[in-house]
Amino acid sequence: MTPTTDLQRPIIKTELPGPKAKEIIEADAKYVTPSYPRPDYKLVAEKGYGVWIEDPDGNVFLDCNAGVAVCSTGHCHPEIVEAITKQTQTLIHLCGTDYYYKQMPDLGRKLSEICPIEGETKTHFANSGAEAIETALKLAMYHTRRQKFISFFGSFHGRTLGALSLTSSKRAQRLGFMRQALDVVHVPYPNCFRCPFNLGKCDDGECCQGTIDWIENRLFNTTTPPEEVAGIILEVVQGEGGYIPAPTSVVRALREICDKHGIMLIVDEVQSGMGRTGKMFALDHHKGVKADIMCLAKGIGSGLPIGACVARADIMDWHKGAHASTFGGNPVCIASALKTIELLENGLVENAATVGKYLEDGLRNLQTKYKQIGDVRGLGMMLGVEFVKENGEPDAELRDRIEMECFNKGLIILGCGSSTIRWSPPLILTKENADVALEIFDAAIAASIQ
Ligand SMILES: Cc1ncc(COP(=O)(O)O)c(C=O)c1O
Repeated sequence: MTPTTDLQRPIIKTELPGPKAKEIIEADAKYVTPSYPRPDYKLVAEKGYGVWIEDPDGNVFLDCNAGVAVCSTGHCHPEIVEAITKQTQTLIHLCGTDYYYKQMPDLGRKLSEICPIEGETKTHFANSGAEAIETALKLAMYHTRRQKFISFFGSFHGRTLGALSLTSSKRAQRLGFMRQALDVVHVPYPNCFRCPFNLGKCDDGECCQGTIDWIENRLFNTTTPPEEVAGIILEVVQGEGGYIPAPTSVVRALREICDKHGIMLIVDEVQSGMGRTGKMFALDHHKGVKADIMCLAKGIGSGLPIGACVARADIMDWHKGAHASTFGGNPVCIASALKTIELLENGLVENAATVGKYLEDGLRNLQTKYKQIGDVRGLGMMLGVEFVKENGEPDAELRDRIEMECFNKGLIILGCGSSTIRWSPPLILTKENADVALEIFDAAIAASIQ
């Protein structure tokens, strides 16, 4: 299952970044936009294979971020490379918005089979997560003939103007763009570790009912009458906001609110989907709860740019010309997505569950060793480790130091939320890889707390 070489450990042979990497970073500073939210450490990639990334100076890193939860099957999985290569030799593009090719209905049919949505579905293809979200917003507005949306504090749904109206995980994302394109109201996201209602720490999601009260008793009775709400947009595990899973009771209650008021439940599985949580979708952890509309991207294409908005067939009822995209659903990207899903179904989702649990146990062991680890949480291979100060407040500086130490020791991990490190490795990660990663993480924490 693991298309890696025999490599066991990272190999760091120069100071980081090395001389060739430095040249690329300098050219980038001159010619590329400064708006990318890159971390303090500077990783320059030249090659990727399996769970390994090699830089131009020959340093090799163990990748526990997977290009921000994208390379689900690992880097350059041979079967993905073969599927893409074969497709590029046959048909690269034709514009599925004006013509037809087999790959679109093939992937649409597959998504209809696997997505937790009631009955038949239809899919609109896009090129990214934000585009899939834009599609969902337009579709919800069109279908319900309503204009308001409810989103969560800490959420991230992308940076295009519609998606940005929903996004609220960091100040930098909206600073400078003033008024928003859409009418969105934000509500507290359920968080058992940092209760937004100051009810302390709970583990059963009970106190998170505050979120539901907020919507039903505060919003619906004041600024946001339910009959004006087109959709509630939910990350079942909040991603950029800190890898925070929502409790089942809240997910279920949101479904009930939507049913009661004819509101679309839009589930954003851009980061949490495609096997990452140890089930095909994070929503699958909440038995019986179905979405009306789902947004997918990142891990679905193993690195090729593809997004998808999947909706109940009766909801995707818009007229010809209402929404389309030149490149969305490109045959090469779809070939990669179909092969990705096949690999996920043939073992990688299961691996995400078992090795993810193993990694989680290892992180929990480290929590008993370091009081600076306030919380370990998540599902499968979507795990967050939150760092705290003595007084329990988030310790962002410590998190950033640890991130840098990991890099210098050859482990790639990335921050999210205010002081959390996210673990989102390729789903091919083995227990042996996890042992190496945990050992480096342990050493990096020890070096950073002194
Ligand atoms: C949950 C979620 N939704 C949407 C997006 C936006 O995706 P993209 O960067 O492909 O536009 C992201 C990206 O991180 C995400 O994590």
